[in-house]
Amino acid sequence: MNSLELYESIFNEKFEPSDKQKKVGNYRLVEVIGKGAFGTVWKGKHVLTRNEVAIKVVPKKSILQRDRAKRRFLSETQALKRLEHNNIVKLLTWMETDKNFYLVMEFICGESLKRYLRKRGRISEYECKTYIGQITQALKYMHDQDIVHRDIKLDNIVLEKGKDRVKIIDLGLSVNLSKVDNSRLCGSLHYMAPEVLDRQAFSTAVDVWSLGVCLYHLVTGSHPFHHTSIRNMSNMYFHILRGFTLPNSLTEECRDLLHNMLDMNPEDRISTENILIHAWLRS
Ligand SMILES: Nc1ncnc2c1ncn2[C@@H]1O[C@H](COP(=O)(O)OP(=O)(O)O)[C@@H](O)[C@H]1O
Ligand SMILES: [Mg+2]
Repeated sequence: MNSLELYESIFNEKFEPSDKQKKVGNYRLVEVIGKGAFGTVWKGKHVLTRNEVAIKVVPKKSILQRDRAKRRFLSETQALKRLEHNNIVKLLTWMETDKNFYLVMEFICGESLKRYLRKRGRISEYECKTYIGQITQALKYMHDQDIVHRDIKLDNIVLEKGKDRVKIIDLGLSVNLSKVDNSRLCGSLHYMAPEVLDRQAFSTAVDVWSLGVCLYHLVTGSHPFHHTSIRNMSNMYFHILRGFTLPNSLTEECRDLLHNMLDMNPEDRISTENILIHAWLRS
C-alpha cells in the first residue's frame, strides 16, 4: 500500500469531530498537559463515560508545516496501531478536521522522566534498573517489528504516578525499517547517535544510543555530551568523538553497560536483547 492509499484508508473512517467549544468527537478537551514542536497534548474526558484520555492535536496550519505535520501524524498513528505493550502508550483512536489531526491515546497519569529528574537531581542505579529494563523491553518489542523510535529522550518517557512503570510516548519520528527513507535526518540533537550525525544509514542501534544518553543523564544528573558551544550537528559529532567521562561513583557494571550502549560503532553497540541480560540489569 502506498502512502496515499494508507492516508486515505486511515481518514476514510467515519468520525465527525467538532473544533467548537473545545470538543473533539465525544471528548471534551479539559486542559493542556504538554506542548511540543508539532502540537499540543490535551487531557480529554469522554462526555458519557468520563474516561480520561490524552489527545494530541496537530494543527495543519501552513502549507509548509502541513506535510511534516501530516507525516509525523501518519508515522505515529501507523506505529501505534501496530504496537501493544505495557511500556508503550496505547492508541485509542484518531480523527481529522479541517484544521487539525487528532490522536486519542490512553492518559498516562504522571510526569516525564525529564521533569522527574529535574526535581531529584539524580536517580539511583537501583531505581534506574526498573525504568531502563522496561524501556529496553519496549524497544526490543518495537525493534523485533522493525520499528525504530528515533526520538528516545527523557521528555518522551513518562513515569506513571504511584506505579513503578514507565511508558514510551511520542512516536512521531518512528519509522518502519522496511520502508525507511534514510536520507531524512531527525531526532533531538543531544540524543542523536553518531551515525545519524554523520548522515550514515541508521538502524535500531540509534535507539540504544539514545537510551544510553538517558541512562547516563539519570544516574549522573548531567548529559554525557553536553556543552554550551554545541549548536549544530557537526559540533555535536565532534564533541562525541572526544568521548565521555564516567564518574567513579558508578558501579563497574553500570559503567560497562554505558560504554556498550554509547559505542560509536553501531555494529558493535549492544543490542536490546543483550542489555536485558547484562550484569547491571541482572544484579
Ligand atoms: N498519553 C499521554 N498521557 C499523558 N501525558 C502525555 C501523553 N502524551 C503526551 N503527554 C505529555 O505531552 C508532552 C508532549 O507529548 P509528545 O507526544 O512528546 O509530543 P511532541 O511530539 O509535541 O513532543 C509529553 O512530554 C507529556 O508530558
Ligand atoms: Mg515529545
